[in-house]
Amino acid sequence: HTIYLKDYAPTPYRIVSVDLDFKIAPDTTRVRAQLTIEPREGTEPGAPLALDGEELKLEEIAIDGAPLVLSAYAADATGLTVIAPPARRFVLETLVSITPETNTKLMGLYRSSDVWCTQCEPEGFRRITYYLDRPDVLATFKVRMTADETLAPVLLANGNLVARGSLDNGQHFAVWEDPFPKPAYLFALVAGDLGSITDTYTTGSGRKVDLAIYCAHGKEEQCAWAMDSLKRSMAWDEKRFGREYDLDVFNIVAVSDFNFGAMENKGLNIFNDRLVFAKPETATDADYENIERVIAHEYFHNWTGNRITCRDWFQLCLKEGLTVYRDQEFTSDERSRSVKRISDVLTLRSAQFPEDAGPLAHPPRPDQYREINNFYTPTVYEKGAEVVRMLATLLGEAGFRKGMDLYFERHDGEATTIEAFLKVFEDANEVDLGQFKTWYLEAGTPKVTVSDTYDAESQTYRLSINQETAPTPGQPEKADRVIPVAFGLIGPNGSPMGWKGVSGGEVREDMIVLRDKSAEMTFTGVASKPVPSLLRGFSAPVNLATNLTQNDRLFLAQHDSDPFNRWQALQDVGLALIVDAVAGNEADEAAILALSAAMSDTLANNSLDDAFKALALNLPDEQLVGRTIGKDVDPAAIHTARKALLKAVFGPLVDRMYTAYATLASEAPYAPTTEQTGRRALRNRLMALMVTASPNGPALAADQYRHATNMTDRFAALVAAGVAWTADAAALLADFRLRFAGDPLVFDKWLAVNARAEDEGVLSRIEIILDDPAFPKNNPNRLRSLVGSFAMGNPVQFTRADGAGFRFVTQFVADVDTRNPQVAARVLTGFRIWPMLEATRREAAREALVTLKENENLSRNTSDILARMLGE
Ligand code: ARG
Ligand code: ZN
Repeated sequence: HTIYLKDYAPTPYRIVSVDLDFKIAPDTTRVRAQLTIEPREGTEPGAPLALDGEELKLEEIAIDGAPLVLSAYAADATGLTVIAPPARRFVLETLVSITPETNTKLMGLYRSSDVWCTQCEPEGFRRITYYLDRPDVLATFKVRMTADETLAPVLLANGNLVARGSLDNGQHFAVWEDPFPKPAYLFALVAGDLGSITDTYTTGSGRKVDLAIYCAHGKEEQCAWAMDSLKRSMAWDEKRFGREYDLDVFNIVAVSDFNFGAMENKGLNIFNDRLVFAKPETATDADYENIERVIAHEYFHNWTGNRITCRDWFQLCLKEGLTVYRDQEFTSDERSRSVKRISDVLTLRSAQFPEDAGPLAHPPRPDQYREINNFYTPTVYEKGAEVVRMLATLLGEAGFRKGMDLYFERHDGEATTIEAFLKVFEDANEVDLGQFKTWYLEAGTPKVTVSDTYDAESQTYRLSINQETAPTPGQPEKADRVIPVAFGLIGPNGSPMGWKGVSGGEVREDMIVLRDKSAEMTFTGVASKPVPSLLRGFSAPVNLATNLTQNDRLFLAQHDSDPFNRWQALQDVGLALIVDAVAGNEADEAAILALSAAMSDTLANNSLDDAFKALALNLPDEQLVGRTIGKDVDPAAIHTARKALLKAVFGPLVDRMYTAYATLASEAPYAPTTEQTGRRALRNRLMALMVTASPNGPALAADQYRHATNMTDRFAALVAAGVAWTADAAALLADFRLRFAGDPLVFDKWLAVNARAEDEGVLSRIEIILDDPAFPKNNPNRLRSLVGSFAMGNPVQFTRADGAGFRFVTQFVADVDTRNPQVAARVLTGFRIWPMLEATRREAAREALVTLKENENLSRNTSDILARMLGE
């Protein structure tokens, strides 16, 4: 059934404090919970108390020490009701047993490679004990754990360690106490035989914090980068947001079976080990950057998520959008701001824009859901971050910081809402954000259309701008949004151009703020016809259409002072050419030549950094082309057109690219520094381009693969060869598998390359890999690397016209759904592009989805995605 935001009401009872006693043992773990509960003001005396609970075996139940008679409570598959509890504070005591060993959903308490660990967000705690499992119930937790000393020498939970010791029979115990009231989704516990590295950090006010990262024995050295990232995150949050850490310990645990990236449990973050482990031989520069980013993200949640949490799950974006914004800013400050911005926009466009344009579109703050796990989406995370970024853009850095300060001051210790978040910015800056709120409430990516005219005689320049958002599921009408369009005018000589006066819209020095459906702005005193640079820094998450010519774009690519727009201008030239080619129009040879020359200039330009060049020397990806075309999309035709343009643009540059490639080689020992990372990114970009544009490219890739001294270079070569499925691809893949046999995270890389190969044979090779009895069928990383990469990262073969790609994925989903519904539902979202496809593929996709629907035992996760996918 569906849950609605409008039905929100606090629970009739509150839980004040929680005492948990875990007896952890193979096969059966027993959990004794003592919940101190009281009725809220206004609760009818004796009103029933309904606790959540799933897959629990109730063994004892008592109130204030007195066992309850059978008629005093009722337990079923979703929870426990105490029929008439006392009308005063009381202690409810339950004893349940659970079996972490058979928990393949990986929610609640489960066992991963012999380690007991938990994942509770959003609704996993109810799989551990009966509870009011919702984020607005905040309690202090005391946790006692007992386990076999050899099986689990390490016993961790949230907060500070207050006692530990040995017991009889080889057992030992630990007691942890978390002084900060928290919702159950932030609960965590770990018990196992783990290695660790330790360090300390002293906060600005002098609190000494003990830091530790726990991991499988033998992996300790691979945790050093994560530890370094953690300390830099702690320092950054103090400097940038004035936020200090608040406990005496901060622990991180790396586990091998984990449904997503990581989890911000108070004082005890738990990570998918792929976001902790790094060494140069097995991790790429991208892995290093991801680890740094996610370590920071989870750490930043301590304030935005934990100290201030969400009132209900509709507000998820309150913590996630804000925390992604914060981690993006961290990376920007630590590395290159413009490169980070371009990469984030690439991610937004490849992950969120398709969601927003398809059957799964939803607002950053949804107002209904059937399964909350399906709302941990690019819209809630990445678009949520864009919305926060727009606030910062509109209010300015100082105004934004004033609002954030007030947020922490006013809401510390609370479970709150998007409304309260917006209110602090209104109050701190004396502005009205009523219209701005639309960004949180409505789905869909606005289309902003701009056209300009210039009148030389009157020296007048006119910009006309309008916005339009297409209907999305359940939202036929769209309101006008506030759209900050950062901009500048550029004169014929390439320098910025000013104006004397402007009328007809809200125009600041460097920003147009569009509030209405359309606006006509007149700039006077403009000496000659300018070229406008619009949406600088991607100041709003919109699709921009302009009347700029290919020449205007090439001009911007050369002269814009905004690095983002220089990059964007080159991409736009390429995009227009591919769209044209797919439409069967005659090739614009002049524009192709000019783009080729512009790419050559970019490569030669000494004032640009390597990482920027690596992003610029590219054409828009196939899915972006597909969305630009918008309907009756033929992914194979797009693929062909894009490949042809790559050859036409970069073919003539092969000699220059090869020289640059040779020059960029370095003997320096590997380090994940910005300088080295940029250098490798550009060199590997050139190598990938040569694989497409030069007959010698495949041999170059094979050669680089064999001589590489780090994973970044080796993997880049493997991807280039494997995706293009060159003559050596199979041999390189075979070598890679042997060379790194026994490292599961490198196996994931191997799986992903296999899944992304562009040739027709890819599907049968994937099937062979998956059918191997030794394939780890329950590990989320392995499954996602193989089948997730196919559904999301192989646009041509997944959408094969014969439907085999679609059927393979739906059959996989049906199978995995019986064990891990979250992994199944996530992979199924790969279908979100289906309504845009041309008729044959569209029909094949629909058939696969309808067949999946005949399965009567689908989980709530998968049936919710499926129903929305089919427009139900
Ligand atoms: N809060 C975690 C994070 O943002 C992710 C939890 C994901 N949970 C889920 N059900 N998908 O780091
Ligand atoms: Zn998060």
